[in-house]
Amino acid sequence: MQGKVAIVTGAASGIGEACAQAFARAGARVAMLDRDAAALAAAAGAIDGALALVVDVADRQSVEAGVRATCEAFGGVDVLVNSAGIESTYTIERMPQQEWDRVIEVNLRGVMLCTQAVIEPMSARGGGAVVNIASIAGKRISYHGGAAYTASKAGVLGFTRHAAFELGIRRIRVNAICPGPTLTPMIRRNATEAEIERTVKTIPLGRWVQPSDIACAALFLAGDAAAMCTGTSIDVDGGVLVSNGSSYEDYFARRR
Ligand SMILES: NC(=O)c1ccc[n+]([C@@H]2O[C@H](COP(=O)([O-])OP(=O)(O)OC[C@H]3O[C@@H](n4cnc5c(N)ncnc54)[C@H](O)[C@@H]3O)[C@@H](O)[C@H]2O)c1
Repeated sequence: MQGKVAIVTGAASGIGEACAQAFARAGARVAMLDRDAAALAAAAGAIDGALALVVDVADRQSVEAGVRATCEAFGGVDVLVNSAGIESTYTIERMPQQEWDRVIEVNLRGVMLCTQAVIEPMSARGGGAVVNIASIAGKRISYHGGAAYTASKAGVLGFTRHAAFELGIRRIRVNAICPGPTLTPMIRRNATEAEIERTVKTIPLGRWVQPSDIACAALFLAGDAAAMCTGTSIDVDGGVLVSNGSSYEDYFARRR
């Protein structure tokens, strides 16, 4: 990442913050975008030379201003990590339309607007890499969120495939990561300590995914080691997607 410029959205917390730290450690100049000004100031303050930009990814003007400010400060953009996201716990039966719209606006429209805004600056540098933080919810259903969240993440995976094709001609690679249960403030807001403890039993590799595990995959997908990867997704889920949901005790009790 030496000499590269990376924009990370949702960089004030959790997976986005871990990605910003990892890209900075790998030598990139990092622009941290988030709508939470106070949390953003704290997270950016811990990273040498990071640019903190208060941006709402669901708002086109705000996104364009953020990308413009990054180009003015750092001279261009090579990498975009779309991590900003929100969860919603409504069942379909009780879902207010505004709640559905808000989740889709942030999680899906936000990914589109940010990708759209970096096409020109990345093309000017001969290409780039977009890494979308989707979710295993996009491939099955969410642990804690409702249908709006699941639908938004399935949408991110569809967008990733289509953008990968459309932007291939510009040498912009577009890939996704599907995190499994990852211990971040988003989870701590929605789950009790007991639920957090219980969830470990459903993860074959025996622990929660950490934000730094996702950052490792993001660094891979954004870097030259993934030069011929586009339109793909990496599941960083401790084996959740290959599991049939039974505990190892039950599994081995029923097998010879
Ligand atoms: N934690 C998990 O288990 C998990 C699993 C799968 C996918 N994800 C995805 O990973 C991404 C990061 O989640 P996290 O767990 O780190 O959550 P988090 O709540 O810790 O961080 C999300 C960040 O996004 C920011 N944000 C929200 N809406 C925004 C907007 N409109 N504009 C700009 N910033 C905005 C928040 O202020 C926050 O700083 C999300 O897209 C989430 O859906 C998380």
